[in-house]
Amino acid sequence: RVLAGRPADLTGRRVVVSAGGTREAIDPVRFIGNRSSGLQGYALARAAVARGAEVTLVAANVALPDPAGARVVRVESALQTRAAVLDALEGADAVVMAAAVADFRPATRSESKIKKTGAEPDAVHLVKNPDILAELGERRRDGLKPYPRVIVGFAAETDDVLANGRAKLARKGCDLLVVNQVGDGLAFGTPDNAATILVADGDPVDVPRGPKEVLADVVWDLVAARLV
Ligand code: CTP
Ligand code: CA
Repeated sequence: RVLAGRPADLTGRRVVVSAGGTREAIDPVRFIGNRSSGLQGYALARAAVARGAEVTLVAANVALPDPAGARVVRVESALQTRAAVLDALEGADAVVMAAAVADFRPATRSESKIKKTGAEPDAVHLVKNPDILAELGERRRDGLKPYPRVIVGFAAETDDVLANGRAKLARKGCDLLVVNQVGDGLAFGTPDNAATILVADGDPVDVPRGPKEVLADVVWDLVAARLV
């Protein structure tokens, strides 16, 4: 496919993309984080702008230049990501949750830096974060406005990729689930990706190893088809 000759099929559409990886603070200098670079989410945002969409990019801890033409909202934690995504939802046609959102956060955040003492350290107690993607699916199921017409999730699986992906798609109530292949120099921090896109009411779409830009355009092809 020719990336330069993108269709303008998202003109007049408003889309929300989350990108990067959340950080959950332990104290003022430490956090629990993950390896997401934000490259796939940024590629999705650029592709949507190029196809005519009005794009809000919720960026969690990403060291990449703002994509031209997108509104960028910077966040750090899962709770901030949730608030920013829900805020951007007003009038949105589609949401793509490409961010790696922490499943857990420390129950408390120490106001001062935790110091090394003679004793063994305290355990870091974790509590569950809200599942933003599942919440969006529930809002739509319950007709709780605003909710997006099209909901896209991402999943990185290492084992039983398709079976786990299918179960996740159903559990989260999304329309499309982009299941990344992890490992072999793929996914985290690399320009390339390989994925199987699971479709709630259709056959899966295989996207062979290639630039994240190409995967982004396949995702928007499928989203645009659901918005007509
Ligand atoms: N996600 C989210 N909120 C969370 C955790 C994940 O919105 N608190 C979203 C991610 O942005 C991604 C999708 O859910 O689009 C799948 O994330 P993943 O970690 O693969 O799924 P989980 O349901 O958290 O399952 P697990 O980590 O146990 O595999
Ligand atoms: Ca998770």
